[in-house]
Amino acid sequence: MSTVKQHFGAIASQYDRNNAILSLGLFRLWNRKLVQAVPQGGVLLDLCAGTGEIAFAHLRRAKKSQHVILLDFCQEMLDVAKKRAPQGHHLTYICADACAIPLQDNAVEAVTTAYGIRNVPDPLACAREVHRVLKPGGRWAILELTRPKSPVLKALHGLYLKTWVPAMGGLFSPSKEAYRYLSSSISQFTAPSS
Ligand SMILES: C[S@@+](CC[C@H](N)C(=O)[O-])C[C@H]1O[C@@H](n2cnc3c(N)ncnc32)[C@H](O)[C@@H]1O
Repeated sequence: MSTVKQHFGAIASQYDRNNAILSLGLFRLWNRKLVQAVPQGGVLLDLCAGTGEIAFAHLRRAKKSQHVILLDFCQEMLDVAKKRAPQGHHLTYICADACAIPLQDNAVEAVTTAYGIRNVPDPLACAREVHRVLKPGGRWAILELTRPKSPVLKALHGLYLKTWVPAMGGLFSPSKEAYRYLSSSISQFTAPSS
């Protein structure tokens, strides 16, 4: 049985392309919303940073040099991020668990977490850590995938997760199992309240 870290390690080099295929490019719109929810300037911590999509989208909006910390427990994902990082900014890469952030108290102005919190086994411990490293008045913006409310859309979405995601993921990456895990993590994540 693979761990979450191994799943992401197995698909790291195909992750960005597969994301674009599986979300039909929609992830860029969702990511933009997240990035707009945090202020520019100051230090940004991108938690569960993966290949750097959110960190780099934040930097594309920046008018001057910024300091962004990319934290992820999967070194392979961070290695992909390093290769595609833009120039002219202060970037720090930390390979660590989101529940034990190796930063001092009040270290950052903002935190982003995209498609990551559902993978964290103890989200409350993670929230405590984020609270500790955020400066007073700082902001934590979370973007996550969940299930639609409408029964029809819910059924179609369930089918998409069960069949399409593992099939396409398996076709374009070496690990169908990793995409099965991604699908089940979405279906098991907290449903939106009605
Ligand atoms: C679905 S990817 C999202 C990556 C990126 N945020 C994005 O928008 O594409 C989830 C990431 O969270 C990382 N991750 C999962 N659990 C983690 C944990 N407990 N601590 C640190 N990183 C974790 C994985 O390694 C993976 O890179």
